[in-house]
Amino acid sequence: MATRRRPPSSSTSSAPPIADEVRSRDPKPSAAAEDPPLAPPKLGFVAAASALFFVPFFYLAFVHYPIEPDLRRSIAISVAMSFGGFLVALRMIPVAARYVLRRNLFGYDINKRGTPQGTVKVPESLGIVIGIVYLVIAILFQHFNFTSDSNWLVEYNAALACICFMILLGFVDDVLDIPWRVKLVLPSFAALPLLMAYAGHTSIIIPKPLIPYVGVPVLDLGWIYKLYMGMLAVFCTNSINIHAGLNGLEVGQTVVISAAVLIHNIMQIGASTDPEYKQAHAFSIYLVLPLLATSLALLSYNWYPSSVFVGDTYTYFAGMALAVVGILGHFSETLLLFFLPQVLNFLYSCPQLFKIIPCPRHRLPKFDPQTGLLTGTKDGTLVNLFLRLFGRCTERALCIKLLIFQAMACLLCFWLRYILAGWYK
Ligand code: UD1
Ligand code: MG
Repeated sequence: MATRRRPPSSSTSSAPPIADEVRSRDPKPSAAAEDPPLAPPKLGFVAAASALFFVPFFYLAFVHYPIEPDLRRSIAISVAMSFGGFLVALRMIPVAARYVLRRNLFGYDINKRGTPQGTVKVPESLGIVIGIVYLVIAILFQHFNFTSDSNWLVEYNAALACICFMILLGFVDDVLDIPWRVKLVLPSFAALPLLMAYAGHTSIIIPKPLIPYVGVPVLDLGWIYKLYMGMLAVFCTNSINIHAGLNGLEVGQTVVISAAVLIHNIMQIGASTDPEYKQAHAFSIYLVLPLLATSLALLSYNWYPSSVFVGDTYTYFAGMALAVVGILGHFSETLLLFFLPQVLNFLYSCPQLFKIIPCPRHRLPKFDPQTGLLTGTKDGTLVNLFLRLFGRCTERALCIKLLIFQAMACLLCFWLRYILAGWYK
């Protein structure tokens, strides 16, 4: 099955990809003549996947917990705006795909090399659409929830500035293909607006079993806390970007983590009586709901077989959005537990990332066009490790296995929090 529908005149199996010169000779080619339409979005799959986490979320937010009407109203507004964002993103992705293709921003699907699908130019960097729609929703939302003297405004806008800066740097990376080492530090610049504006606490609660060793129950870390915030942003963005390369994996992992963050937030709001604590988690809901909704729209085009690629614009944007949500919601340790597969992938990647052993441009599995199966290579990624541990499989099956692993890591985190509650903190 071809990823993108070809024009009826071209032969599907033997036609070479449209030559670059054809596009570049005519700066404004007629869209109808040059650009075959994208395959339709896989909405059935996305609807089924969303039911898995939206049903429990709505139940907890609107039935199970006695949440104050004002807070419920704000959550309902955020849900409605995020759904609007989903529809807009769904509509805009095919439009933007045409434009990026015209500017030769595309990639070849490496895990389909040797098949006709491997020769199709897949539009790249569609994360730019998601980023813009997300920012518009998050900016407009302030109108409904914050008064002009609201304490939250400064940090909320600083968070949005970080996300916006990260989208810009991610897009720069997609266009200029920045060297790996420079890429690694980009998020530390993007995190600056929040680090400068952050006026929240810089102390951490020491886990109960460690209090005798540390000597105090609460430790003020001062500037070290801000350094930690910056490092968290660098980690979240890069760790999503390197756990990638399979159709649907970049967006799929973001969707699973965002859903876990959403449910964690509503559970914390439901279980607490402290208004400050509830506000921090509500704040996190307002930032994560549009991320989840717009990512679902992208997933419907990026799921196997991908008709668009998300680009580093998306991986950086999603990582930064999750990092600011964790920082401002004050649950960065929980966030890191949700990121368990990314932590494992990062640790396993270290020898190659730090050039102790050679690191090729793409650390992807080997694709066999005859059988359509992927085989794990020696490159240190979770993708390859899964193939070596569980045997050869299709790209789609491998992506599903990795997303199930992500969901299991999130469930483990919920279980750990439940078991350790009271004893740990
Ligand atoms: C990171 C990884 C690299 C991996 C790449 C895949 C490290 C150090 N870098 O690099 O190993 O190969 O992501 O995204 O771990 N692509 C596909 N199928 C997909 C998604 C992407 O074939 O489902 C290919 C396309 O050719 C696409 C390209 O990957 O154009 C995008 O790669 P890019 O995001 O630029 O790679 P990096 O983030 O630098
Ligand atoms: Mg990438």
